[in-house]
Amino acid sequence: MCGIIGVIGNGPVVPRLIDSLKRLEYRGYDSAGVAAMVDGSVERRRAQGKIRNLEAVLAEEPLKATIGIGHTRWATHGAPTTVNAHPHKAGRVTLVHNGIIENFAELKAELAAEGHIFESQTDTEVIAHLLDAELKTGRKPLEAFKVTLDRLTGAYALAVLIDGEDGLILGARRGSPLVVGWGEGEMYLGSDALAVGPFTQQISYLEEGDYVAVTRDGAEMFDASGQPVDRAVVQVSASSAMVEKGEYRHFMEKEIHEQPDSVQHTLSEYLDLVTGKVKPQGVDFAAIDRIQIVACGTAFYAGQIGRYAFEKLAGLPCDVEIASEFRYRSPAVSKTTLAVAVSQSGETADTLASLTWCKAQGLPTAAVVNVHTSSMAREASVLWPTHAGPEIGVASTKAFTAQVAALLALAVAAGVARGRINAAAEAELVKALFESPRVIAEALRMDETIRAVTQELSKATDVLFLGRGPMFPLAMEGALKLKEISYIHAEGYAAGELKHGPIALIDEETPTIALAPLDDVFDKTASNLQEIAARGGPVIMITPENAPDPHGVGIRRIDAPDCHPLIAPLVYAVPMQLLAYYTAVQKGTDVDQPRNLAKSVTVE
Ligand code: G6P
Repeated sequence: MCGIIGVIGNGPVVPRLIDSLKRLEYRGYDSAGVAAMVDGSVERRRAQGKIRNLEAVLAEEPLKATIGIGHTRWATHGAPTTVNAHPHKAGRVTLVHNGIIENFAELKAELAAEGHIFESQTDTEVIAHLLDAELKTGRKPLEAFKVTLDRLTGAYALAVLIDGEDGLILGARRGSPLVVGWGEGEMYLGSDALAVGPFTQQISYLEEGDYVAVTRDGAEMFDASGQPVDRAVVQVSASSAMVEKGEYRHFMEKEIHEQPDSVQHTLSEYLDLVTGKVKPQGVDFAAIDRIQIVACGTAFYAGQIGRYAFEKLAGLPCDVEIASEFRYRSPAVSKTTLAVAVSQSGETADTLASLTWCKAQGLPTAAVVNVHTSSMAREASVLWPTHAGPEIGVASTKAFTAQVAALLALAVAAGVARGRINAAAEAELVKALFESPRVIAEALRMDETIRAVTQELSKATDVLFLGRGPMFPLAMEGALKLKEISYIHAEGYAAGELKHGPIALIDEETPTIALAPLDDVFDKTASNLQEIAARGGPVIMITPENAPDPHGVGIRRIDAPDCHPLIAPLVYAVPMQLLAYYTAVQKGTDVDQPRNLAKSVTVE
């Protein structure tokens, strides 16, 4: 995830920017840069690779200023080169960005037709050109900024300097977090509390859609509609943001809200939005004829979602098994099977043992892991990293969606390698995946509606989760989340299996949560829900607003964002997590450290 810092003060700014960027290194990056206001015009210094390379550039060409912005970049659009490194500059505008501008290609074409010349391959540069063009029409910076923001589709956090405006940094947040830091005669913008941690512990967390004008004396904040707003100033502890909850009550809540970023970061490992193509994945998918996924817990459900994608998109048979079963049952495997371990920690004993066993049988191996130095990362021939960042809550959330994102991207890659996906389909699927951070951010806005539902849900003793296709494993994951942190008994079922047993459980006291994206089995799921409603069972149907009504008495709908079916598991994971989270909060359980559970299970 890219890191952002902005400082508007009185002392030399560059050492402070560098200090902050070093604290953001943990987010992962492949280039870094700073920009500062020198005599009313903004100058940049950028470097590929580590921050020490940037420091070397600055030693050669120092920048003396009191206002500046800095960035660590994790490449999504375009290679990790100096020219693609942030800050980006166009005319009077210099800015840094975290996120994805989905409509950058259209905007770029429009601007190019008007004569704008682009120097980088990034989506970010488009924002600088757009804002510069708005300033040229005579608009004041804030107004020009708002007009520019309104033209962007996607997820972003921004920090902006404008030549000639030497008392101003503009910032905006949509999908990606941004905080305002309050100092003595100095103000800051940062991608998290850690970024501004060296300077202040007084933080305002911008809310979704907010934008801000930061001056030496304070910050003027506006909501998405342009209305002035005040966001509370809170005191954060001086300790590392990696172990800090920031604006959130629990780590789990924080981690749920980090998903637009963690999914984007993970996808950019596997996909290139500039070319609309998958990147090389280190495995020849045309040379294997089967995939065997092994995993435990939440990672097992991520694997099952992956299976639907590998079989549908790549025609590649895929088995998914709980590692503790796989390792002891003498499975029959062939050397043309790719064994894939899926694990957040990379240390789960049963998953590791299964991976080691497969390797010993001579199978090619890969590991989808979040801890890149873990035993599984080292054991597997190919490392397929997820970039969820440190996950503290025992109940996995952002690590799960990162696993799903990686597996979906890999399934597209497998489909391309096996000749099942042509260039046009590849571009469409890559685009759909890159839309997921924005749609996940939209799904996070279901927060209030879900919270309201959990007042009733927290009184239930049994809850059913239903789904079809990839929503079936997601239903099981939803049930697991609820069990883990609220201690309410829950089961996830394939909606079509209802009549074969679970329908006997239906009564007025047993709620059913149904995951019903508008996909090719929507009607079938809707019929199953009518069967439940007809028997007096309360149903909560999570479905897009534009989905047809199943007309069942007692079916309560919760609007979810409409999305491409490929990314539905990523989007619908959010309401599942929020349901479990708010139910647990209602019940007053220990959300981050549920009883009897461990984050990493290194014993059998
Ligand atoms: C434990 C955790 C779960 C996790 C499972 C597998 O049970 O509480 O959240 O899904 O282990 O862990 P792994 O690190 O292999 O993904």
